[in-house]
Amino acid sequence: MNPRSLFLRKSGKESAEGGDSASGLKRSLTAFDLTLLGIGAIIGAGLFSSIRDMIVGTFNADGTPHMLGAGPAVILSYALTAMACGFAALCYAEVSAMVPASGSAYSYSYAAFGEIIAWIIGWDLIIEYAIGNVYVAQSWADYFQTFLDGLFGWHFPIWLTKDFQTAGTLALQPEYADAFPRLFGHAFAVNLPAFGITILLTTVLFIGIKESARANAVMVFLKLALVVIFIVLGFKTILARGENHWTPFAPNHFKGIWQGAALGFFSYIGFDAISTAGEECKNPQRDLPRGLIGSLLICTVLYILTAAALTGVVPLSEMTTNDPLAKAMEYMGYHDFATIFAFGAVIAMTAVLLVFQLGQTRIFMVMARDGLLPKVFSRIHPRFHTPHISTWITGLVVACSCSILTPDQAIGLCNIGTLFAFALVALGVIVLRVREPDRPRPFKVPLYPLTPILAILSCLALIAGLEISNWLRLVIWLAIGMVVYFLYGYRNSVLRRQASGR
Ligand code: ALA
Repeated sequence: MNPRSLFLRKSGKESAEGGDSASGLKRSLTAFDLTLLGIGAIIGAGLFSSIRDMIVGTFNADGTPHMLGAGPAVILSYALTAMACGFAALCYAEVSAMVPASGSAYSYSYAAFGEIIAWIIGWDLIIEYAIGNVYVAQSWADYFQTFLDGLFGWHFPIWLTKDFQTAGTLALQPEYADAFPRLFGHAFAVNLPAFGITILLTTVLFIGIKESARANAVMVFLKLALVVIFIVLGFKTILARGENHWTPFAPNHFKGIWQGAALGFFSYIGFDAISTAGEECKNPQRDLPRGLIGSLLICTVLYILTAAALTGVVPLSEMTTNDPLAKAMEYMGYHDFATIFAFGAVIAMTAVLLVFQLGQTRIFMVMARDGLLPKVFSRIHPRFHTPHISTWITGLVVACSCSILTPDQAIGLCNIGTLFAFALVALGVIVLRVREPDRPRPFKVPLYPLTPILAILSCLALIAGLEISNWLRLVIWLAIGMVVYFLYGYRNSVLRRQASGR
């Protein structure tokens, strides 16, 4: 084996070929459209669920802290993460506009670094999309339950709403001792609502949907309305009661703020969707950064105000449920609105689930076309014209993982995997500028090389804020990926065959 062949690179032309490349698309998007696109992809389970863990932290089975919470200083965590995302987003925008191909960071790195790094990123993106969706589906299930409870006063038995590991932990507590059936002596549970919604959406994707700008606009409006109503009611309650719970502001000092920021990264994932629209912008150099920074800024302001309202109204000790915003509504006395809010959150998270599920399928398709994954992954259904096999594999893996992984594991793994991919993309900006200085760049990052360097450093700082078990899981996942690559991708790579004239 020639080690140099591991780094075979695709030219820009090859990257753009092989699929639904953006080239040839109409340049119709404005900065405003891009901002809407971003908000649609960004706001979801992060804000509706993980905000609680950012505030109060997470705990091990024995009650010892796992990740420290930021307390009301979570507003600083959001600001820190937004800065890191801003740098990373600009880097993403440069490479995505110059390497117009579907497949996101995977395709950019095939052009910048060569095959093996592209494989690592593609393998790693499975964590962003599929495992990220596990967390979103689990949060969806929590809010769905609140909605059912509010509307009909009915909820699923607990063993149909949890993952297997959480069931084991809960069953140790006396009040849950009889709540779970036993399977080979272990407390048994499945997350039925999360399984159900994932399979439902997989069926929708299998039949084929058209993403429409109008549906996205409605969704963005719904999300913004929900969040703004929460903020207004929250501040109204704080003013009416004449008291708040903002002190102590940072109970776990800088470490809590930092770990909160690392967790909060999830709330911003999705902005990469904007950068992939570079080829469809009327004026990418001007509008891409405006759309990216615009949607990040709007989401950051909304996140900070939501966090301020939540921590002002609900004492930290009472933030115990997985649907903190709906519960906060009840806490404020708006019981009926809590049910409506839970319904809105369910719809909003359904949209995120759909985008992620679609994204995963596309990445599988592009990797299979390149010969790095078996061809079945890119097989198109004769009637529905969708990549049905990768759609079903993704759907089943996500649906089953919702009953295997805990929410903490899913969000931690998604964050570390995505941060790692973003750091590599930022490095790719520098590598491509050195290797191919004259290649046309519809968009260039401002303040080069400072921006990519800051992007890499801030991604690494957030990775460092995550708990060490996540690093281990990432390393194990990447090691499995290497085995798959050498057993399959290396031998079947289309580019390697072309290079060796086979
Ligand atoms: N940012 C997306 C969410 O919070 C992933 O659901």
